[in-house]
Amino acid sequence: MRLLVCTLASSLLVGHAAILAADHTSLQPIGAVASVARTAQGLRLQCADGASVTLSVLAPDLVRVRTLFAGQTAALDHSWAIARTEWPKTPFTVQENADAVTLGTGELHVVIRRAPLLIEFRDAATGRVLNADARPMARDAKTGAVGAAKKLGFDEHFYGLGEKAARLDKRRGKFTMWNSDTPGYVEGTDPIYQSIPLYLGLEHGVAYGLFYDNAWRSTFEFGHLTQESANYTADGGELDYYFIAGPALKKVVSRYTELTGRMPLPPLWSLGHQQSRYSYYPDKLVEHIADKYRAHDLPLDVIHLDIHYMDGYRVFTWDKTRFPDPAGLARSLSAKGVRLITIVDPGVKFQPEGGYPVYDEGAEKDYYLRQTDGTVYVGEVWPGKSVFVDYTKEEARRWWGDWHRTLTDAGIAGIWTDMNEPADFLDPTGKRHEHIRFDDLGQRTPYNGMRNTFALNMARATYEGLQRLQPDRRPFVITRAGYAGIQRYAVKWTGDNNATFASLSLNVPMFASLGLSGQPFIGADIPGFIGRGDGELLARSYQIAAFSPFFRNHTAIDSYDKEPWRFGAYYEGIARKFIKLRYQLLPFLYTTMEEAHRTGVPLFRPLVLNFQEDENTATIDDQFMVGDALLAAPVTRAAQREREVYLPAGNWFDFWTGAPVEGGRTHVVPAPLDHLPLYVRAGSIIPSTVAMSHTGEKPWDPLRFDIYPDASGAATGSLYEDDGLTSAHERGVFRRTAVSFSGGRLTLHSEGSHRTPARHFEIVLHGDRTVSAVIANGQSLASAHWSRTAKGALTVRIADDGQPLSLEFR
Ligand code: NOJ
Repeated sequence: MRLLVCTLASSLLVGHAAILAADHTSLQPIGAVASVARTAQGLRLQCADGASVTLSVLAPDLVRVRTLFAGQTAALDHSWAIARTEWPKTPFTVQENADAVTLGTGELHVVIRRAPLLIEFRDAATGRVLNADARPMARDAKTGAVGAAKKLGFDEHFYGLGEKAARLDKRRGKFTMWNSDTPGYVEGTDPIYQSIPLYLGLEHGVAYGLFYDNAWRSTFEFGHLTQESANYTADGGELDYYFIAGPALKKVVSRYTELTGRMPLPPLWSLGHQQSRYSYYPDKLVEHIADKYRAHDLPLDVIHLDIHYMDGYRVFTWDKTRFPDPAGLARSLSAKGVRLITIVDPGVKFQPEGGYPVYDEGAEKDYYLRQTDGTVYVGEVWPGKSVFVDYTKEEARRWWGDWHRTLTDAGIAGIWTDMNEPADFLDPTGKRHEHIRFDDLGQRTPYNGMRNTFALNMARATYEGLQRLQPDRRPFVITRAGYAGIQRYAVKWTGDNNATFASLSLNVPMFASLGLSGQPFIGADIPGFIGRGDGELLARSYQIAAFSPFFRNHTAIDSYDKEPWRFGAYYEGIARKFIKLRYQLLPFLYTTMEEAHRTGVPLFRPLVLNFQEDENTATIDDQFMVGDALLAAPVTRAAQREREVYLPAGNWFDFWTGAPVEGGRTHVVPAPLDHLPLYVRAGSIIPSTVAMSHTGEKPWDPLRFDIYPDASGAATGSLYEDDGLTSAHERGVFRRTAVSFSGGRLTLHSEGSHRTPARHFEIVLHGDRTVSAVIANGQSLASAHWSRTAKGALTVRIADDGQPLSLEFR
């Protein structure tokens, strides 16, 4: 019933967004530059019409442009998205002539034409224009809408925008930012759950980023109807944007995530396989699912409890009949290596008659969102009438975070925040909510300017609460909605997808776009939330999901059960193969996630992120890279048993057979249902281990390194390890191993104070090198320690004593 309501509402919403999107033609251009003043960080322009523009150099490749139009009052210089506000002083130059002022950094020349006021970003080294205003910035004084129009390169590609049910390259598209509950979305449904007003432009191998930090409903048009300009409009707020110079896409993503924050290092178990359904109850069924997993030899780390674990959907309560002893359940599952995650919704049951302490406390402390007339807003979600917390109040965030004690005390390992657009059955469009005001640091900001940040602040309250409640544990929070910066607090799943191949084919473009938008920890419900799906869909879903950081099987209340065994032994076998592959590759995946945490560069990548010089990769979104090393070409169509695979220039290896494959061309390859075309880029070294039933079952022993030499016979790789659970890594308690191979010699060297248990390395050299002796740290290794496999690779087994290792293949 609810589903029906939501689906109907979502189709209304699409129309609604189209009607409300600000019309660019009604905006009045900003006045010409009247005077220019130098500031500590850059320039302040005073315009003839009373407007002012502040340009701040935060780094040589990062410039903020903040505009205050005539008659507009400045808001606090605060953004919920921004993580870093203090930047080291960056030297800059200012040059003026009659027509223009140029602000120069080591990497950028920002040329500001005076009349009309037009801003142009040029590469300082080449003088090449990276991005330029097509029209002056503008505002509609009546509605408060603001806008910018940028010149559109004829060969320019556009990426990012966070979560869009669209292809990777957004060129010619039009997209709205307005967090929306859109169950059963399909390609083209817009907006959906998240709003990340960041895009990356790429033309002829050169990239830049533009982040419009404005949470109001906004619209991006990348030459939707004409080739003239890329337009941005927001229904209110300030025109406040950050320009990030590349030329590398990776550098843009890295800077953007320095600005808005990076994903914290996740616990290792969160990369394990997870099972959910709407909803598992009572407790016996949860135990049964865990037992089935073990009996079927299917790895599993987590089971999720959806809304029915609560007492009448009241957050921070337990249904005592269905779950009489939550802590007992968590203990019993823990003995089987399974953790519990519970859902937490933002809607607090409106229960003024008493008897529900959460409601009472929030009401007493005035934490619920109020409207302009002073009344608390009452909407409707799962518990019926519900109120919503104003998470912009620090105290309210702390209070909400602390309530998670009811869950952590019961041994709950992670929190799944849902419905946080926020969804409201009374009106999913948000129109009804216009009169709500958020405290927003005392500014009383209207709902329309804050809706998109609701999930961000709820996730923050949750994350910080878990941090306080379990200071020695890495918090794990999942979210559906979000705004820029959400990656600091929560991992993202793509909501209520369909159990269809059309929906599956959105996985790659959506995950890749989220990664380019700063969110590396992403995933979709396997094999799809709404609808039945079949074994073939299950098999193909697992082939992508095995490489998406969030790896969860989930289904709707009225959908067929979708645990792998429900589809019969044949399809279950394929799922098992890929779930086990996931666990084998955990050393590589965890290492790549640590890189994402440290640099912002995601694990799940579009080809263009690794090969931006190669024009062929610009629009490829039916293949993806895992880190730098693996290229996957999944099948997302029913009955398809072969496919085309484009391999960028260089040498490649077939992951399954180790056979060399030529790059720089397209291959047509077989893709039977149990097979994922998967390739390794020559020059990579991939760490892996044995499959296990859950991440904590046993240590990574043997720890295997597969070496895939490039044309010059060289390869490099790394391995990151720590306790997988605590924050000790922040104090250097990790082991980072650099592995490199060249001239027939492998060297391995670790840093950090984490001690791994005694174990063996298994070193596998691919390629056709003739080897007659293996020398380990100067000593000839007995032939019993090395052998050639049937597939021609050479395997060496050697003890890992934590010391540097040198292996010479002669
Ligand atoms: C909507 C979520 O997207 C879905 O995953 C969940 O099962 C339902 N809410 C019920 O909580």
